Amino acid sequence: MLIDPFGRKVDYLRISVTDRCDFRCFYCMSENMKFLPKKDLLSLEELERICDAFINLGVKKIRITGGEPLVRRDIMNLFTKLGRYLDNNELDELTLTTNGSQLKRYASDLVSIGVKRINISLDTLDKEKFNNITRWGHLDNVLAGIDAARNAGLKIKINTVALKGINEDEFVDLINWCGKNDMDITFIETMPLGDIDTDRTNNYLPLSLVRTRLKRHFTLKKTDYNTGGPARYMTVNETNQKIGFITPLTHNFCESCNRVRLTCTGTLYMCLGQEDNIDLRIPLRQSESNTFLIEAIHKGISKKPKGHDFIIDRISELPAVSRHMSTTGG
Ligand code: 5AD
Ligand code: SF4
Repeated sequence: MLIDPFGRKVDYLRISVTDRCDFRCFYCMSENMKFLPKKDLLSLEELERICDAFINLGVKKIRITGGEPLVRRDIMNLFTKLGRYLDNNELDELTLTTNGSQLKRYASDLVSIGVKRINISLDTLDKEKFNNITRWGHLDNVLAGIDAARNAGLKIKINTVALKGINEDEFVDLINWCGKNDMDITFIETMPLGDIDTDRTNNYLPLSLVRTRLKRHFTLKKTDYNTGGPARYMTVNETNQKIGFITPLTHNFCESCNRVRLTCTGTLYMCLGQEDNIDLRIPLRQSESNTFLIEAIHKGISKKPKGHDFIIDRISELPAVSRHMSTTGG
């Protein structure tokens, strides 16, 4: 088992399988992003070996993220391999965070592999706003992807980044739309991750304010529901769905953190908001057995920090953490 120095059990691994994406959301990326050369990426076989090591060390849940994970070539091969660990109960859950652009193509495959729930990022239901936010995305395609996922039987959670002056007038509609379609929704505050073209503070919208406003429209009840992550959940009486709030800047959620994050180059980050990391690529390639790899994983976990120190720095405009969300995985 993996227990960190603060007694937290780490049983959840998130893997960013690519830093690339077919969108360019303004709060996530700059318009002309420089991506990693393909030769620096771990192969899908190597990613599977790392998963295997983590599963042997007690990891029960794996989430595939990116960038946009479904744009990585042959990514279904990795899903298929990991699906076998679900079949023999070594893994409890295999999930995915996606922008939805490729779901039309992959939704039914994901279900046959054993994926039950996925997170889909969607900040607006307005075509023009969607173009403005994602720069390269098409709303119709994502909505068709969401339909495909629902029809295939996937349980969906929508992730919406709360953006001041951009989508704050749409939250009630988004909640109702999710309620109607049997989807949960989580609102996310912008996090200071990675250099982008604009100043994030312009669009920072505290979720405490969002919650207060939503209470005028819905009866929100607190719940104890907790996935070990940063989201705090409330239930909407009217639609009986869960609304999550991820408030990294205004709240501390680190005491129950159960996860670590692997990048597509094999760097293991112990925290989304800290630089503490350990390289797994070298020990992975050092030997065909997992001895060095497992040793490195233990060493990494022993460095898991107590908490993050995100702040949106209003003076310097520099991100608190220079790597993008697409590198470490959302
Ligand atoms: N702050 C907050 N959310 C972000 N995402 C990407 N970059 C940021 C950021 N800097 C969101 C995506 C997606 C989720 C994985 O993370 O929109 O919903
Ligand atoms: Fe791509 Fe997600 Fe970043 Fe948007 S937020 S550019 S969809 S990785």
